[in-house]
Amino acid sequence: MTIRTDNELDALRAVGRIAAEVLEAMRRAVRPGITTAEIDRVARTVIETRGARSAPELVYKFPAATCISVNDEVVHGVPGLRVLQPGDVVKLDVTVEKDGFMADTACTAIVEPRSALGRRLASCAKQAFEAALAVAKAGQPISRAGRAVEEVVRSQGFSVIRQLCGHGIGRTIHEDPEVPNFFDPNHRGVFEEGMVLTIEPIISAGSGRTRKAGDGWTLKTTDGSLAAHFEHTMAITRGRPVLLTLR
Ligand code: CO
Ligand code: CO
Repeated sequence: MTIRTDNELDALRAVGRIAAEVLEAMRRAVRPGITTAEIDRVARTVIETRGARSAPELVYKFPAATCISVNDEVVHGVPGLRVLQPGDVVKLDVTVEKDGFMADTACTAIVEPRSALGRRLASCAKQAFEAALAVAKAGQPISRAGRAVEEVVRSQGFSVIRQLCGHGIGRTIHEDPEVPNFFDPNHRGVFEEGMVLTIEPIISAGSGRTRKAGDGWTLKTTDGSLAAHFEHTMAITRGRPVLLTLR
């Protein structure tokens, strides 16, 4: 969506703050021995306490409140009986709805003790996000953000998972425009003032190719390599975007 009024901005900030609170509560719950279903329960409690709803449940009938994807699982992992182990690379992804507005945020948490590769990969996803943020200004081609992400990721020897993109958001989870994590010369989109979208580098330590797991939801790397993810929802301005998924 594109923000037209102060009320819309306020509503997006409110739902964005809830998403950030949920993500932080999940991050704090990550430890050896906890199941992903237990982390999802932590998330659901915060979502319900704030009078919000899980957007993936609402929009896609996803079978949990949040997506939790471990190691070679990239995105859309279904929380369940999996027990977290030391060194696991855990992608936590939260999209919530309140009063008809939605916000989406994700991070990569690593169970202690963290491997050097896991740490480097998670840090790279965040650095790629920052690089895209620096060029996401009204009037700039959207393809610049993808180029910025790709440069950071490649320079560190990792791959972008090309089939997964950032996206417009606001009234539902996935709106136009797509925000690719690579340079797409055919992408004609331009960042516009007030546009609400996500930037979300999703990267792997291997080839970057993925397949859908047997549960029909989880996307995994085909080569079993680790994946990392970092995401915020933001409003585009002439300067630095306004991050909406902050506490
Ligand atoms: Co997300
Ligand atoms: Co997203």
